[in-house]
Amino acid sequence: MGMNKIMEILDSMDYGPAPEDSSIARDWLAKHQGGFGHFIDGAFTRPANLFEVTNPATGQVIARVSQGAAADVDAAVKAARAAQGKWAALPGHDRARHLYALARHIQQHARLLAVLETLDNGKPIRESRDIDIPLVIRHFYHHAGWAELIADEFPGALPHGVCGQVIPWNFPLLMLAWKVAPALAAGNTVVLKPAEYTPLTALALAEIAREAGLPKGVLNIVTGDGQTGAAITGHAGIDKVAFTGSTEVGRIIRRQIAGSGKALTLELGGKSPFVVFADADLDAAVEGVVDSIWFNQGQVCCAGSRILVAEAVADRFTELLARRMGTLIVGDPLEKSTDIGAIVHPVQLGRIRALVEQGQAEGARVHQGSAPAGCFYPPTFVTGVEPASILATEEIFGPVVTLTPFRTPEDAVALANNTRYGLAGSVWSENINLALDVAAKIRAGVVWINSANLFDAGAGFGGYRESGFGREGGREGMAAYLHHPAPRAKKPETAPAAPVALPAEHMAAGAIDRTAKLYVGGRQARPDSGYSYAVPGTKAAVGLAGLGNRKDIRNAVEAAHKAVGWGAQTGHNRAQVLYYLAENLATREAEFTERLRSFGQGKSAAQTEVDCAIRRIFWYAAQADKFDGAVHQTKSAHVTLAMHEPLGVMGIACPTAFPLLGFVSLVLPAIAMGNRVVAVPSQTHPLAATDLYQVLDTSDVPGGVVNIVTGDRDALARTLAEHDDVDALWYFGTAAGAGLVEAASAGNLKQTWCEDGAARDWTTPQGQGRPFLTRATQVKNIWVPYGE
Ligand code: NAI
Repeated sequence: MGMNKIMEILDSMDYGPAPEDSSIARDWLAKHQGGFGHFIDGAFTRPANLFEVTNPATGQVIARVSQGAAADVDAAVKAARAAQGKWAALPGHDRARHLYALARHIQQHARLLAVLETLDNGKPIRESRDIDIPLVIRHFYHHAGWAELIADEFPGALPHGVCGQVIPWNFPLLMLAWKVAPALAAGNTVVLKPAEYTPLTALALAEIAREAGLPKGVLNIVTGDGQTGAAITGHAGIDKVAFTGSTEVGRIIRRQIAGSGKALTLELGGKSPFVVFADADLDAAVEGVVDSIWFNQGQVCCAGSRILVAEAVADRFTELLARRMGTLIVGDPLEKSTDIGAIVHPVQLGRIRALVEQGQAEGARVHQGSAPAGCFYPPTFVTGVEPASILATEEIFGPVVTLTPFRTPEDAVALANNTRYGLAGSVWSENINLALDVAAKIRAGVVWINSANLFDAGAGFGGYRESGFGREGGREGMAAYLHHPAPRAKKPETAPAAPVALPAEHMAAGAIDRTAKLYVGGRQARPDSGYSYAVPGTKAAVGLAGLGNRKDIRNAVEAAHKAVGWGAQTGHNRAQVLYYLAENLATREAEFTERLRSFGQGKSAAQTEVDCAIRRIFWYAAQADKFDGAVHQTKSAHVTLAMHEPLGVMGIACPTAFPLLGFVSLVLPAIAMGNRVVAVPSQTHPLAATDLYQVLDTSDVPGGVVNIVTGDRDALARTLAEHDDVDALWYFGTAAGAGLVEAASAGNLKQTWCEDGAARDWTTPQGQGRPFLTRATQVKNIWVPYGE
């Protein structure tokens, strides 16, 4: 190569656009100096009620966007509604073509989007360019594929309709992609609100969608703050709400839409453990911390924010960590060498500072790197943190991690799970047996082995417990944007008359042939109230059932918790127990048929119900070792195991109709998948369920796996909904009861499934199937890298 040529190259290197050149985004912003409107029905509205958007790294105002009012949200929902039918009616292939086009156009604008994201959010350009935007593109391509395959892969499933989506500021465009791509692929249309700190890439994407020819009304973007968000989530025209953000707002939304019939997925906060065993590659684990809590300024919901390190290597690890922390460069996000950029907003910076100061006041020792003046926070780790300290319990959402030693793997698991959250976990050990064992025991939706913060469109992401419910990404993420419409009753279930309490003496009187007790921990138990209530028959009462109360529910939940071994059994073992249960019920077929007839059912209806119940138990027994997960295709040299795990302790409130079959149809899928259940059987005719006590006993169903509390369904369901140790609640009853249960479930954000108790004919295929198993499980994705 001649000297001239080299000079030419050097010249062009000098003057050519360097990656950190921000002119592409600044030019784009300059074009929008008059402010941004909302993107509704394929066009931008006139900018109005403008608020300022700043670059947190400099404090400069870079744009002005519109604060969305109720009328804007209304217009957006109308546009989305108008577009939805046609969008859903397109063949999957045509929707796929639209999504491919969108993915390509995003790819073409990748540089604009990366720089804009960095200006708006403060994250290092290296991250927006190499992580955020490539993942956005991957997400749209991946979901274009799902659109193509929907009819084959999800037969019978339908889109929800119009989705209202509210997203946070930490991964502004990526969170948009996670929500918009699956929603559109499934045939939904969208009204999305980006976070008020970071609305710009969403607006750029709206332009790109228009350029790519996405039909108008399919994607609508309304900007604004929490009020605008609430107007979307609360809008009567929204069929499904998807939210990512703080647990606090997740709760508000849960309560806001309780009883509305809207579907809901929540991706909330976390306090994820990062577990380092003594045999871990400590250098690699230290890099894992860098990628975990010092990635994106620690503003990551799944950040490993609690390091748990084996005592034997704690000193060495701390030393390595401190050394590495000292090399991190905090500063200008546009600088290619920057590791940690600006905190999204001074408000967030203030929040981080306040939490760390409080932790310090509680006795924690703070170790920090350095950071320039301005909206920056130094990388930080904290030692001497008590488990109850604010730093150990609260999501800080900054580059701050706690470091706690542990002795044994059991201690590590106990510490890891000592949180109300359950979003993610990271496990470091060269011993694959140990790593997988701990991964299985961590209660979280994602666990990375010898890695951290890996994401891919092909794997589901989402939480357990107060980290929310629903998944984004992969097959399980698609399922969250589809549904099998619940059957509709000609006449919805009406509230049964409140049970009339009869005193205990009444039970002893012997006037009525049978008084059923409750069933708790494998034993019959007298109701705490001492009262019973009459179960009506064709003419007179046919028996008495215990009138359960809060205390009985609490006892039952406690018993269910003790039966934890059920979920750890093999599917084969559970299947054997359930087959036995079916056989034992079969031998008492005549007796159960009689019982149903005593409630006034005709002979053939009673026989059908009992027969169906027996078959149904066999069916779920068969599924116990078959409803398994998947190995997702994600990154190269990784197996990503999507495991079906039980939800834990489930409350189940049964419909009044089909007193035996309704109970069996709901309880069996739950226990087949390894859950333990506290069931409230048909309020009006609970004796069909209480007759099962002996069958359960003789079938070796371990005590505590099925607990039965009879009584006032809505009162008992409410107690179950409020109970923090209940992980999920199925309620089949009245509309009013559903609203009550959904609102009361906000406490620990348990999953709920509410349906009209009269809707299903349980004797038909409506009463059985994989959707029940899906509802009874949650997917945990375990990432296992391989290769050297
Ligand atoms: P936030 O939860 O208030 O905001 C997230 C989104 O929800 C924003 O778009 C906001 O406008 C919207 N929103 C707020 N109130 C709403 C309502 N009542 N109805 C509907 N939408 C509403 O989070 P914020 O205030 O920005 O951050 C506070 C803390 O939340 C952070 O310090 C962090 O701990 C946590 N957080 C967690 C996130 C996660 O992904 N886990 C994301 C963002 C924040």
